[in-house]
Amino acid sequence: MHPRWWTSMAKQLLGPFSEMVTMDRLPERGPLLDERMEVVRDGGLIIEGDRILDVLDAERFKQVRELAEMKGSPLGHTPIKRRMVLLPGLIDCHTHICFAGSRAKEYSKRISGESYLQISERGGGIMSTVRATRQATEEELVSTLAERALEHLLRGVTTCEVKSGYGLDVETELKMLRAIRRVNASLDPHPSLVPTCLAAHVRPPEFRTDQQYLDLIVNKLLPLVKNEGLASRVDIYIDRGAFPPELADGYLFLAMKLGFAAVVHADQFVTGGAVIAARVGAVSADHLERSTDREFKWLKERDVTAVVLPGSSLGLGDPFAPARRMLDSGLCMAIASDWNPGTAPMGGLLTQASILSANQRLTAAETFAGLTFRAAKALDLGDRGTIRIGQLADLVGFACESYDEILYRQGALPPALIIKGGKRVMRAPNQAGG
Ligand code: NIG
Ligand code: FE
Repeated sequence: MHPRWWTSMAKQLLGPFSEMVTMDRLPERGPLLDERMEVVRDGGLIIEGDRILDVLDAERFKQVRELAEMKGSPLGHTPIKRRMVLLPGLIDCHTHICFAGSRAKEYSKRISGESYLQISERGGGIMSTVRATRQATEEELVSTLAERALEHLLRGVTTCEVKSGYGLDVETELKMLRAIRRVNASLDPHPSLVPTCLAAHVRPPEFRTDQQYLDLIVNKLLPLVKNEGLASRVDIYIDRGAFPPELADGYLFLAMKLGFAAVVHADQFVTGGAVIAARVGAVSADHLERSTDREFKWLKERDVTAVVLPGSSLGLGDPFAPARRMLDSGLCMAIASDWNPGTAPMGGLLTQASILSANQRLTAAETFAGLTFRAAKALDLGDRGTIRIGQLADLVGFACESYDEILYRQGALPPALIIKGGKRVMRAPNQAGG
């Protein structure tokens, strides 16, 4: 795989597209009908540097194209020769793609009957990835993370959150966060990576009590993370087999006092996490497979974004989070992959979102919103997730006539055009999708 950037001039006209689904001017919360989506037909865009300079309807596109084709024009034109639907680049707001090792054997055991909790009680599960990640060098983490990040970019993901949480000691947590930073700073094509410190994933065996371990994180690790500018978000896994809700709010309040935004892994196996997310005013509560209308009311009151993770339900063979009910409760709902070596090894965000939408009866608008501007809200990023003047030029195009075909193909239609920060990502000729 040898993708590279391609960009020729400072100002580029791009188009025409059979449809541009801008995802602009839509409500941040609640249900969405497809008719509300702005769909620009046969129009195009002007990109300058890494930004969208203009969004053109069919008529203005024709006019600007004439100008661009005049001799000596400062405007370049990248003609789109196939029928293509353009969306904002996808945003995956919850992943664990910085890790070493594989849990394929554990997966085989799990699908033939052993439970996730049973495996972790025997020292497998998260702890098995922790052992492999502690042994890996920073260099090894950088190279495997870069590969996964690139795989995601080629599937249309232009922004990707990445958690630490497989170190569970000061040294390895820092190693993971530094690896994330290095991939983010690299000149090779990659999505923007948004780091989150998930040192409070589970208690490592070196500690006798949860509180002792949480104290170490607050007193030692988080100040170092802050000083090095390695992350501005902190996540905690609240659940059976992880941290109890009673300890989590104290931990999150202290982290927030240090200046971190809070995120919670909540209500995956038992409830108790969402209420903490609401109490501390977290930016998002993620998982929520077991949540009920009571939890949704609390999250709504504090404007906490609900992040559903169909990939982990698929990996565990568990029911999906009640996404339909979340939207009907008026929540801002995002959809993320949870890509991790244990419960969600696939990472195919668009496939997972398509399957979730069929299961939960979501509209295309709700599904795309959860993958774009609502996911941007979960990461507190105001500069992406819509096709709008001034936004980052992060874009994904699918070779089809209408947006309906994207979810209809359930992820099997790969992106034919990927633009990250105004630069086009070209694939080697033998790669699918052109
Ligand atoms: O989000 N639930 C906790 N953490 C991850 C799984 C991590 C793992 O199994 O390695 C999750 O599903
Ligand atoms: Fe997760």
